[in-house]
Amino acid sequence: MKAVGLHHYLPIEKDESLVDETVNKPAPGERDILVKIRAVSVNPVDTKVRGPKEGEEEELKILGWDAAGVVEETGSGVTMFKPGDEVYYAGSIARQGTNSEYHVVDERIAAFKPDRLTFEQAAAMPLTGLTAWEGMFERLGISRDAEANASKSILIIGAAGGVGSIAIQLAKWAGLRVIGTASRPETEKWARDNGADETISHYESFKKQLEEKGLDQPDYIFCLNSTDQHWEAMMEVIAPQGKICSIVETGTPVNISLLQQKSVTFVMEFMFTKALFGTKDMQTQHEILTEMAKLFDEQKLTSTLTETIEPFNALSLKKAHEKLESGKTIGKIVVSGFDQIT
Ligand SMILES: NC(=O)c1ccc[n+]([C@@H]2O[C@H](COP(=O)([O-])OP(=O)(O)OC[C@H]3O[C@@H](n4cnc5c(N)ncnc54)[C@H](OP(=O)(O)O)[C@@H]3O)[C@@H](O)[C@H]2O)c1
Repeated sequence: MKAVGLHHYLPIEKDESLVDETVNKPAPGERDILVKIRAVSVNPVDTKVRGPKEGEEEELKILGWDAAGVVEETGSGVTMFKPGDEVYYAGSIARQGTNSEYHVVDERIAAFKPDRLTFEQAAAMPLTGLTAWEGMFERLGISRDAEANASKSILIIGAAGGVGSIAIQLAKWAGLRVIGTASRPETEKWARDNGADETISHYESFKKQLEEKGLDQPDYIFCLNSTDQHWEAMMEVIAPQGKICSIVETGTPVNISLLQQKSVTFVMEFMFTKALFGTKDMQTQHEILTEMAKLFDEQKLTSTLTETIEPFNALSLKKAHEKLESGKTIGKIVVSGFDQIT
């Protein structure tokens, strides 16, 4: 099968940063489904894993942790899917990625693709959707009962990116008042189009901007970018006894004592934790994706896909990585055109 991956960790402009190769089709393990891929999306994790570092991979290292496709074969212990089923999923960081014609994934972290979405629209959603859902409803413990959230608000930092755009939609669906941060007219518009009630800039004082707009201190903050850069500003504006979740590692140490005076809860979310450690609740990722598929089909959520690049090859994936590395992505970029593979 055709696959795109790397042997060396290089800047994207280098010829060998991502290469086209023919590799063996993977065989499904006991709980795995073998999926014929129709579309994949790119996420910052791809560029972080690919980025320049020491080391060499003898076997092609395949990146990509988002896919939509059709089940081709099932492992002996699979109970949820059969050949021909259309699925979408993010997969596991501990296994080969999705940038290949065929891919194996544990059935417990995959789900039926939403009927209303194309393969491209569906491939855009699993990784960011799972991150937003787990971050807000599991880590922050936000209720999914809109009535319970009637007087609650959330500040989403980095609202127009992949995770931010679906986080806004899910927060609105859960009845929260949403303030999103965006620094450009086009990202402000995108955040509002996805449901944000207000936008402020992440390059100016959060406190001053919230006060100027007459907005209360948010009960929750979902930090999707530059955790250390925003640390003190978050402590300044979070409501007493509020909760903050970050999905981004810190580049420099932060002062956790700043959490104390307001008794703030701080928690981190890593979308790959469940699959990486095979946690007992790993199958909740199947359940979350299933619930989200229902919301897409009921048009309560919309795909955040903004750009599709074709055909599926190293050149297209390089273009996608370059765009993502600009840090200015709006919504999601998908690579498809698997039917054009030569
Ligand atoms: N822990 C996890 O499980 C997990 C899962 C997914 C992603 N992540 C991480 O979360 C981050 C965001 O992922 P993503 O897919 O949403 O990325 P993305 O789509 O590349 O995010 C792009 C957005 O980031 C905004 N941005 C740029 N600089 C910012 C800053 N200093 N402060 C706030 N926002 C800023 C931009 O808004 P403007 O153009 O308006 O400036 C842009 O719209 C990445 O670091 C990624 O690796 C972690």
